[in-house]
Amino acid sequence: NALAPQLESARAEVLADADLWQAGAEVPADKEPLDAGFHLLPDRLLAELAEKGAASELARLKSTADRLAGDCKSVVVLGIGGSYMGARALLESCCHPYYNEVPAKLRGDRPRIYFEGNNVDNDAVTGLIELLKSRDEPWGVVVISKSGGTLETAAATRIFLRELEASAGDKLTERFVPVTGTSGKLFDLSTALGAPDIYEVPDGVGGRFSVLSAVGLLPAAVMGLDIEKLLAGAKAMNDHFATAPVGENVVLQYVGVCNLLEETEGCVTRILSTWGKRLEAAGLWYDQLLAESLGKNEQGALPLTIVNTRDLHSRGQQHQEGPRDKVITNVIVESQDSTPLAIGESENNQDKLNELANKTLPDILRAAIAGTNQAYEEDNRPTADLILPKLDEHTIGQLLQMLMLATVVEGRLIGINPYGQPGVEAYKNNMNAILRK
Ligand code: PA5
Repeated sequence: NALAPQLESARAEVLADADLWQAGAEVPADKEPLDAGFHLLPDRLLAELAEKGAASELARLKSTADRLAGDCKSVVVLGIGGSYMGARALLESCCHPYYNEVPAKLRGDRPRIYFEGNNVDNDAVTGLIELLKSRDEPWGVVVISKSGGTLETAAATRIFLRELEASAGDKLTERFVPVTGTSGKLFDLSTALGAPDIYEVPDGVGGRFSVLSAVGLLPAAVMGLDIEKLLAGAKAMNDHFATAPVGENVVLQYVGVCNLLEETEGCVTRILSTWGKRLEAAGLWYDQLLAESLGKNEQGALPLTIVNTRDLHSRGQQHQEGPRDKVITNVIVESQDSTPLAIGESENNQDKLNELANKTLPDILRAAIAGTNQAYEEDNRPTADLILPKLDEHTIGQLLQMLMLATVVEGRLIGINPYGQPGVEAYKNNMNAILRK
């Protein structure tokens, strides 16, 4: 309530930013860069699908993904930062937990997915090339770089294209799908190679806000995910954000709680406490989103994703008894698709677990969540819960859009432009200068 008027006006600014993008209007000089396009992307892509059918971008994306999935047993997705983390979050949260390892039919006969170009680790790249060669099966490359000039991704592209040429021969271009801006080095390279499908990162959609453009949707479609459902979840969150009153608005509540605790209690560390293994990559995607968007002008909270119950046995001690500088947001998935596994009776009761024989893994997780929250509460450590009824494309679409909206609302609230990342340029410039000396 204390923040309601400020949250209302931050929401109005964010909605106005989206309208400017929708209208293709000139960006006011004091707001540059204004990459507000992510906001209405789900609405726009779904409307275009309904209007144009097979000629729409979504239909084209699906058909390219199906072609690649039909031709290749593995696909290497090259990209870094916002051009990588969203796709990984979708793979880990929505696909089979052992996606690459299971027999193809358990992943819907879709190709295995590997991520590279997100580092310059010689062992890792060599290892992946060895793996691909050892299988002697067709593979392909999806390369994602909005600028088309990021060195980590560009270097990996050249190396993997060399290997792809050796493996695919004259099918090279069919197995190479770029996602990039409408100009730049990667666009020029892809055009010169004659790549049949080049996907665009739309103007006004920044890297870490691009997961619901071709940047995340193409890899998601290659994995066989339902990309319309993903967008429908995000669109539902847009509708909720625009219309729900502050007190019932999940985006504004999240921003309000985090911001008030930071301003009044010094809670400068934001812990995203994911329960279960499948949301870790989504949390890492959020770490990047928050850090790169609001970590400016010596402001911005420190994001940290943890995975429980695993990290109760590592970071948990510090969160329970360390400095009072944290707000912990639990991300809880209410129900899982798999049948609950019970501990079960055993003749070998040396572990004394027979008294818990009827308890299932979800029962233990629920008890761990309640027990941890209780311990924090008893020591006046602030927590909030984000509840997902289940983990699927719809709820993940909602979650990603919610966190993107929350980040830009908070930017407006604290007077930070969430778009652009001028600080990242310093290392890039230095690295390039050192390399070219
Ligand atoms: O959020 C961002 O804009 C960055 O993290 C970029 O996604 C990252 O630097 C990669 O840039 P590019 O897609 O131009 O290669």
